[in-house]
Amino acid sequence: MAPPVPVTSAAVSEAKAHASDPLEELELRLLLEAVFHFYGFDFREYAPGSLRRRVRNLVREEGLPSISALQDRILHDPKALPRLIQGLSVSVTSMYRDPGFFRAFRQQVVPLLRTYPMVRIWHAGCSTGEEVYSMAALLEEEGFYDRCRIYATDMNEDALRKAAGGCFPLVAMREHTARYLAAGGRRSFSEYYSVRDRQAAFHRRLRRNVVFAQHNLVTDRSFNEFNAILCRNTLIYFSRPLQERVHHLLYESLARLGFLGLGSKETIQFTPFERSYQALDPVHKIYRKVG
Ligand SMILES: C[S@@+](CC[C@H](N)C(=O)[O-])C[C@H]1O[C@@H](n2cnc3c(N)ncnc32)[C@H](O)[C@@H]1O
Repeated sequence: MAPPVPVTSAAVSEAKAHASDPLEELELRLLLEAVFHFYGFDFREYAPGSLRRRVRNLVREEGLPSISALQDRILHDPKALPRLIQGLSVSVTSMYRDPGFFRAFRQQVVPLLRTYPMVRIWHAGCSTGEEVYSMAALLEEEGFYDRCRIYATDMNEDALRKAAGGCFPLVAMREHTARYLAAGGRRSFSEYYSVRDRQAAFHRRLRRNVVFAQHNLVTDRSFNEFNAILCRNTLIYFSRPLQERVHHLLYESLARLGFLGLGSKETIQFTPFERSYQALDPVHKIYRKVG
């Protein structure tokens, strides 16, 4: 018979970190209710695993003993709210993230969009804006940026402020440049920015047709009709029923024959809208509204 495996204290705390105890679950639920009722931000239907992990991190970072203590702080100190939003919103992004997506967009979507007199594109969940500048540069290279309007939205105001500022750490530009080229970029990427204080400051001309605005996919409605919507790497943080509600919003916001771009781990398959779209490029998650 194999000898019994000793249970170390590290193994015990690891197990605790993954388990959800009923009291913690209750505290978490109360926190989310409080944030929704007091501030209007609705995280109640986010995917529970990553949400719990993020809230635990916040409790630790704030130096607090429990989620209830975090709730107390958030309710009584409005300055703590942006830290909660930041902690829960997962703002990781990059320029030309998944270059194959942008290459496919250039090759398969641009030839059709280019024929329109005016093109409206919505980046829903744009984070700090790298995706938006990637698109603006692509459209400029394709010669019809002047006829495009980009609406870049996110629920996180701090992220939007950075996006509108258009300055990104210079250290990341080497990787951004590699992805720009892999995405089919035709110029030298450095033509799009100037270097200032270790930052790449993107030229104003790239954001001349961009509107940055706060919009919450969970609580806000459609605000226009778009020819293309990119909602990438945001739906994965939502529970399934919430994903379906947001898909409904995206569907309503797309013009007929409009294009929907999702993240690499997201799909329209197995949602009630599956039949309303044609998979233009299922590998790169580009769909066309047909129904
Ligand atoms: C991982 S980033 C994705 C950024 C970019 N689309 C990309 O693919 O690189 C997810 C973004 O979704 C935003 N987000 C999360 N919940 C949201 C909501 N309910 N409404 C609008 N934006 C939301 C977050 O603030 C974050 O900026």
